[in-house]
Amino acid sequence: MENIIMPKSYKILNIKKMTDIEYLFRVEYPDAKEIKFGQFMQLSLPKVGECPISVTDFSGDDGWAEFLIRKVGVVTDEIFELKPGDIIPMRGPYGKGFNQVDINGKRVIIVAGGSGIAPVRSLIHHIDRNPDKVKALELLFGFKDEKSILFKDEIMEWRKRNPMILTVDKGCGIDGECVGLVTEYVPQLRLMSDNFNDVEVIIVGPPNMMKYTAMSFEELGVPAERIWLSFERKMSCAVGKCGHCRIDEVYVCLDGPVFNYTKAKYMLD
Ligand SMILES: Cc1cc2nc3c(=O)[nH]c(=O)nc-3n(C[C@H](O)[C@H](O)[C@H](O)COP(=O)(O)OP(=O)(O)OC[C@H]3O[C@@H](n4cnc5c(N)ncnc54)[C@H](O)[C@@H]3O)c2cc1C
Ligand code: FES
Repeated sequence: MENIIMPKSYKILNIKKMTDIEYLFRVEYPDAKEIKFGQFMQLSLPKVGECPISVTDFSGDDGWAEFLIRKVGVVTDEIFELKPGDIIPMRGPYGKGFNQVDINGKRVIIVAGGSGIAPVRSLIHHIDRNPDKVKALELLFGFKDEKSILFKDEIMEWRKRNPMILTVDKGCGIDGECVGLVTEYVPQLRLMSDNFNDVEVIIVGPPNMMKYTAMSFEELGVPAERIWLSFERKMSCAVGKCGHCRIDEVYVCLDGPVFNYTKAKYMLD
């Protein structure tokens, strides 16, 4: 019988330093066609451990998957020691991603805070390259300061074709114009209007940022059914067996990490 939690070995193709604590790893992944936007994989190192990391982008045709990894502890410290050509064991992809969100013909608003841009990046690429799929796309990004801005080149490309607000908590952003938390800019979004029948809002970031941003949208009249959040929760098996990721009756690894706000509002502390 196949062991469903046995990782397979994959070759690291490229590593790019994005910030002092965040690197982008491109890994050879022949089954990339199977990945859905917003899914995650379990990356591991023998005798060190395992951790869930979102697939930030992938190419089914060229057979690779990318991971934006923040160096925070035991496993990620060791992953940062790896070099192109080294092997990394992985299993997945896991979870229900953004395919639950019906974006077809909709006005789509994506809000990301800091490294929350990682899980939504492939979806943004997809919409940006296939604009006929949606009625409109608008982006709202928040970063700590200018040097924390991730995927700056891609952000500059996306904003040529889609309305975007980019804000930093302090200092100056790319153009130095927007300072403050993303919640302050929700009312300024162009796609916010009186009629929210064709709007889908996706929010990814730290728990407090998601909580207050989702509340801002709801206060402005966006129904909870139109708001989606992606959760990070400590995990172990990632296949619904160990209960590590459980919040009440919900298993984040199986039922999420992407949840509708009707459910997610009761999962946020
Ligand atoms: C679905 C999902 C997707 C994720 N996607 C990404 C991603 O794309 N890029 C990325 O860098 N990280 C991502 N994470 C977070 C990542 O899994 C953790 O940072 C990682 O497990 C840390 O492992 P470690 O052994 O290096 O750190 P540890 O030594 O285990 O922990 C170091 C510190 O980080 C804290 N920590 C550990 N895990 C988490 C967590 N899940 N959430 C918040 N704090 C945590 C610990 O409490 C401790 O303070 C994701 C997590 C989930 C559940
Ligand atoms: S991580 Fe084991 S049940 Fe979700």
